[in-house]
Amino acid sequence: MNSNYKEPKVNKSNRKRLIIWFFVPLVILISTGFYLLLETDFFTVNIKEETLVDENNIDDFDKIENGIHVQTGFVDAPGLLETVRNCTSCHSSQLVLQNRMNKERWTATIKWMQETQNLWDLGENEAIIVNYLATNYPPKETGRRKNLDTIDWYVLEE
Ligand code: HEC
Repeated sequence: MNSNYKEPKVNKSNRKRLIIWFFVPLVILISTGFYLLLETDFFTVNIKEETLVDENNIDDFDKIENGIHVQTGFVDAPGLLETVRNCTSCHSSQLVLQNRMNKERWTATIKWMQETQNLWDLGENEAIIVNYLATNYPPKETGRRKNLDTIDWYVLEE
């Protein structure tokens, strides 16, 4: 070997620098690497949770399909939101939907629930709800069939 070769002197402050600039980042890098390797779910879990929240809560509750509010079965029309909020917490929307009434009778039904079933004061929403119900669920016009007018009566013979 070349005997003239002198080892570069590594003095104390150089060694300190070497440790700080080389080993410390290296240790951080390696331990982060290990952490990510062991925590295989580190990224996937977060993504799954986000999509779950989206699909179940926000999307489905407001979903309207073919003009029908899917969650309740109510027709999508002005006043839907107020009706869903106030009329589906005690009983199913079906109890509302199976009825068809005019404004006076919807108002009377609401009044009856307020007096006997603890329904709260609806405030200015009452007019909106009654209007929504009477418009979209009015009394069926043809409750009875029309009188027959083309009948050939026959005479009973004894
Ligand atoms: C505080 C609870 C509550 C709320 C809110 C409520 N109801 Fe009712 N409702 C009742 C109860 C209790 C009955 C009786 C259920 C039964 O007979 O099984 C009822 C019955 C009904 C009936 C059937 C009445 C009958 O003669 O059979 C209709 C229609 C109705 N509710 C419509 C509504 C509408 C419209 C709203 C929104 C404005 C509403 N309800 C909100 C408690 C409530």
